[in-house]
Amino acid sequence: MSGVSSPVLPAALVEALGDHGGDVVIADLYGDQGSNVYEAAAVNDTHEIRELIRATRGAGSEVLEFAAGSGRLSLPLAAAGRRIVGVDSSPSMIALLDDKLAGRHAALRSSIRTVVADMTTYDDGTRYSTTVLGCISISLLDEDQRRRFFRGASAWLAPDGVLLMSTTDTTVLGDTTGRYQDFPGLSGQRYRLFEEIDLLDSVRHVGVVDLDDLRKDPVTVFLTHVRAIAPAVLEAELADAGLRVRAVRPVATPDGAHPIVILEAVWA
Ligand SMILES: C[S@@+](CC[C@H](N)C(=O)[O-])C[C@H]1O[C@@H](n2cnc3c(N)ncnc32)[C@H](O)[C@@H]1O
Repeated sequence: MSGVSSPVLPAALVEALGDHGGDVVIADLYGDQGSNVYEAAAVNDTHEIRELIRATRGAGSEVLEFAAGSGRLSLPLAAAGRRIVGVDSSPSMIALLDDKLAGRHAALRSSIRTVVADMTTYDDGTRYSTTVLGCISISLLDEDQRRRFFRGASAWLAPDGVLLMSTTDTTVLGDTTGRYQDFPGLSGQRYRLFEEIDLLDSVRHVGVVDLDDLRKDPVTVFLTHVRAIAPAVLEAELADAGLRVRAVRPVATPDGAHPIVILEAVWA
């Protein structure tokens, strides 16, 4: 991409790129390079972990975790005794998880099986009694993808199974225009994360740039778009697929962070 006029970039990021003048390369935050940027941002992020450990207590058989990524949730769940099948469509994110597992003790290694696959068409022939889609990753799917994913539940969710799915409670979403946050990269990079909510389209645009790259040409911007989907919308979509929400559990988040809830969905 040349220039920075694309409307999908947060305005404050466009401003930061303003003096750059060279080419801007847009990369997926979960892609080859981006996965390391995501990892650096996620490394100290503990949200949802306690709640999901509690919610999966008593899960006797394997837990199917969609959008497992680099294992931010999978590893603590496995350390708490769960056996996990971690599914993610990004080979780079799964490679990060595999690398982490290679360095852990055998018991933990054997507790997590990783699979590169698209959650919207997932079918490994097993119907699981506990399935997890955490880190508000449902927001990465558009309406058609969500429909496919929920319809697909008949392939992976047992008749008495539960889907634990987190989402942003958009009823209390604040305005993040111009908001940014700095965090260090795994090799000491100075990353700046910009985010902006497009209230009209209900999308949170998130872009990350290495501040030192602003002096280079081209500069890479790592981008993802997180839809703000109200729990009521997901509830209606789940109902279309024959699922009902039996509980909505709040997730503890730091002050100023987006409020998150975990929906517990079962067959209606
Ligand atoms: C926000 S990250 C969450 C990763 C991890 N669970 C965590 O808590 O840090 C979202 C993940 O969803 C994955 N993803 C996006 N679309 C997907 C799809 N259709 N099927 C499977 N994984 C997908 C991305 O590759 C990424 O790893």
